[in-house]
Amino acid sequence: ALVSLRQLLDHAAENSYGLPAFNVNNLEQIQAIMQAADECNSPVIMQGSAGARKYAGEAFLRHLIAAAVEAYPHIPIVMHQDHGASPSVCVNAIRSGFSSVMMDGSLQADAKTPSTYEYNVNVTADVVNTAHSVGVSVEGELGCLGSLESGMGEAEDGHGAEGVLSHDQLLTDPEEAADFVRKTGVDALAIAIGTSHGAYKFTRKPTGDILAIQRIKEIHARIPNTHLVMHGSSSVPQDWLDIIRQYGGDIKETYGVPVEEIQEGIKYGVRKINIDTDIRLAMTGAIRRSLEKDKSNFDPRKFLKEATAAAKDICKARFEAFGCAGQA
Ligand code: G3H
Ligand code: 13P
Ligand code: NA
Ligand code: ZN
Repeated sequence: ALVSLRQLLDHAAENSYGLPAFNVNNLEQIQAIMQAADECNSPVIMQGSAGARKYAGEAFLRHLIAAAVEAYPHIPIVMHQDHGASPSVCVNAIRSGFSSVMMDGSLQADAKTPSTYEYNVNVTADVVNTAHSVGVSVEGELGCLGSLESGMGEAEDGHGAEGVLSHDQLLTDPEEAADFVRKTGVDALAIAIGTSHGAYKFTRKPTGDILAIQRIKEIHARIPNTHLVMHGSSSVPQDWLDIIRQYGGDIKETYGVPVEEIQEGIKYGVRKINIDTDIRLAMTGAIRRSLEKDKSNFDPRKFLKEATAAAKDICKARFEAFGCAGQA
């Protein structure tokens, strides 16, 4: 059944687990997530970005997720709109039937430039007001996603925002987080702790100076009843990087957010963990391998089936590691 984000995250908090929120763009990704959730009896959060809407079209995206709700009636599913750049994007998603929206007011409506705190409070409170009147949940974001290694903040597309930001600007301030939650009434708060979108997060396996898990603990201590969200939380599996390279791909050395660090975050209020890149890497590796191994094949179902299986394994591993397996 289609449920709100609030319903799932309240249950996750009561039972001390976290939920991956997977980005979806097409049939195969949705089937992979649902097959994994069905096998381990996990609730599901699927989210569509602006890029996903541009790729698939809003109607296709929405109906594909609705098909998952119909095909798996025993699994609670959240249809979430990821990184809304303005209130109108969120209101359109609410109108078309999404059960949760993210108002990302950490950036201005151009999705490129860091916004002021007042702007963020105003647009987020505005969306909460509309969404809550129809039972839809709202995620807000405070702080700037981006690299503590380079000091670069990032735009929605994962590319560097203009200007070099200080260490402090890149991390969410616990006092400001408390004020933001009080003023906006958001159901969940995305925080900045040094992660960034995409495959190139860290140039080495992250330690506390570049991945600030400690900051999660400080925020949670200040707002223990707020559900926290980690963006840019793909783990960037080295085995899939190796397979992509082995079959002709070109991916530079890079590291993601280790699953053990996410598990530590879950102990301190992290309930939603956004993952897109890991599914992309697994599908790309599987497709490269399949096409290389069976050069006479020209039926896309063959390599897409292998891509789906690879994505499914990633999803299942995350459901199990975050503690949501068995919670549907
Ligand atoms: O927000 C970041 C997600 O990874 C979505 O990426 O805009 O390329 O769909 P996208
Ligand atoms: P990754 O690029 O680490 O998968 O993050 C996805 C994300 O945060 C989507 O909002
Ligand atoms: Na989101
Ligand atoms: Zn994100």
